[in-house]
Amino acid sequence: MGSEMKEVDLSVSLGSLKLKNPVMTASGTFGYAREFAPYVNLQRLGAVVVKGISLEPRIGNPSPRIVETSCGMLNAIGLENVGVKRFIAEKMDSLRASNVPVIVNILGDTLDEYREIAAQLADVEGIAAIEVNISCPNVKKGGVAFGTVPEMAEAVTAAVKKQSRVPVIVKLSPNVTDITVIARAVEAGGADSVSLINTLIGMSIDSKSRRPGLANIIGGLSGPAIKPVALRMVYQTAQAVSIPVIGIGGIETVEDILEFMLAGATAVQIGTANFINPRVSEDAVEGLAQYVKEQKMGSIRELIGALVTA
Ligand SMILES: Cc1cc2nc3c(=O)[nH]c(=O)nc-3n(C[C@H](O)[C@H](O)[C@H](O)COP(=O)(O)O)c2cc1C
Repeated sequence: MGSEMKEVDLSVSLGSLKLKNPVMTASGTFGYAREFAPYVNLQRLGAVVVKGISLEPRIGNPSPRIVETSCGMLNAIGLENVGVKRFIAEKMDSLRASNVPVIVNILGDTLDEYREIAAQLADVEGIAAIEVNISCPNVKKGGVAFGTVPEMAEAVTAAVKKQSRVPVIVKLSPNVTDITVIARAVEAGGADSVSLINTLIGMSIDSKSRRPGLANIIGGLSGPAIKPVALRMVYQTAQAVSIPVIGIGGIETVEDILEFMLAGATAVQIGTANFINPRVSEDAVEGLAQYVKEQKMGSIRELIGALVTA
């Protein structure tokens, strides 16, 4: 397996961020990576994206916080995390030691919170990029999600970008009418790349108990159920911006990755599938290497945006 890897070129560039292959893990589905080290050779992955970090620790929502749906799952974890100070003190050492590019996902309730987290992370060694989750409500603007208003999306991007020494990836919310408007806004704000999609807002009901599946009633839908929506949004976004696009949503197999790259993604993230097979991302890297070899392709990059529509 190791020798196969060396013969093929799986490397991709997200602006100045060079990855040895396009396969990353998605935020919130891979812990702080260390939890997966017994199952996955982390070094084989393109990058890992850690669970979203806020300024202060969060305890999250009451249970049940996860419920299975047809071809997917709903979650309302409530962005439980240890907060930026403990993240730096307790999680960064093992992340640095894992020899894989580490992308830190951040979130906030206000513009100032995003700015402050980015400032605290700026001096930390071993962070390859910041991914900004803009699907969160802006508490100073009546709870409207940052990622649904172009001006707010642009402002939060610019604020994080100004504090950061590493590339800034902005993670887009699919819960909008036209995702290309938001993609262009964050590009204008200085984003180095965009990742999409975050979860689609959904709910489930148990008719026997007449109760919602989630204690929070509504939550984020993920898994194969959202893949066609994600593919469509990646396709539209790749046409609309000139920065690289990272595809996310329902990816489980090598074929799924090929589809996202054909739609215009330079790289991908695997989320929910980690709960079914913790090795899925490493398997995907091996599968991609096999594919490039079999197809006698010079590089995986030939696939990016190579969708045939005529
Ligand atoms: C349990 C769970 C927790 C998540 N936590 C975060 C998070 O903290 N920050 C974030 O930006 N996205 C979070 N996500 C969204 C995923 O990173 C991803 O965008 C989404 O699940 C779609 O990909 P998938 O269908 O491969 O899971 C979470 C998803 C799940 C299922």
